[in-house]
Amino acid sequence: VPESLVCNGVVKDYWEARPCGTSKSVVGNLPEQSLEWFERVEAHRYATEPFIHSIAQFTRHRGKRLLEVGVGAGTDHLQWARAGAICYGVDLTAAAIDITKAHLDAYGLQSNLQRADAETLPFPEKYFEVVYSWGVIHHAEHPSAIVDEIHRVLKPGGTFIGMMYGRHSLKVLKHWACYALLRGKPWLTFRQVISRHVESSGTQAYTVSELRALFSRFSQFSANPQITAYDRRGLPNALVKLCPERFGWFIAIHATK
Ligand SMILES: C[S@@+](CC[C@H](N)C(=O)[O-])C[C@H]1O[C@@H](n2cnc3c(N)ncnc32)[C@H](O)[C@@H]1O
Repeated sequence: VPESLVCNGVVKDYWEARPCGTSKSVVGNLPEQSLEWFERVEAHRYATEPFIHSIAQFTRHRGKRLLEVGVGAGTDHLQWARAGAICYGVDLTAAAIDITKAHLDAYGLQSNLQRADAETLPFPEKYFEVVYSWGVIHHAEHPSAIVDEIHRVLKPGGTFIGMMYGRHSLKVLKHWACYALLRGKPWLTFRQVISRHVESSGTQAYTVSELRALFSRFSQFSANPQITAYDRRGLPNALVKLCPERFGWFIAIHATK
């Protein structure tokens, strides 16, 4: 699996300026980090990505020591804390750590949060029963380093739950049509279009078999692509309905150490 061509400094600058899921189109003019603001962020997230609940199964992990890699605005982290996991979280950006702290504070909940690059996790080996990471690893300079670190900090038999982007998806096909075909550059590959035009530069997306190779150190692995609102947007419903889930932008991953 090729590694990205950006450095984590560029990724950090991008996310420092725009913590995930908190854009004006979501929160409007609500006072920043007020309870209403957080509730709008949460409602929007689970309206857009409702399958997160069935993939993460937050309530199954009560009392377990759990690390979230790349907490973003902390909306999933809040679900882990509400469900009674012993929560730890890291993110590359100070903005994400600050918002996540405030997010949990707003509900009287707590987590051990710190800014860290997940390519070197600041935890001893075999420390966590669960590691969770939604939409993060594919942004890193060295995704395989993060997967190795997750493997290191998991206890034997521990679980990784996550999501990474799928390259052979409707979302990528639309992006390619827009940024390559319609701009007279049909020779650009899916990889190049994703790296240049999806969120922070250097973003990658994978096939299921590439993900299996990335997680080959784990004893059990499953990957399930999921068609998302980002695949559906701008396409006729009837067409999307004909499309198998394997052409989905999100690939849910479950792996056991
Ligand atoms: C698309 S957001 C996802 C955030 C959150 N998991 C969610 O689903 O809303 C990507 C997040 O990953 C973080 N991130 C990117 N590279 C990272 C790295 N190497 N180590 C830790 N966090 C990273 C970014 O700072 C950003 O907060």
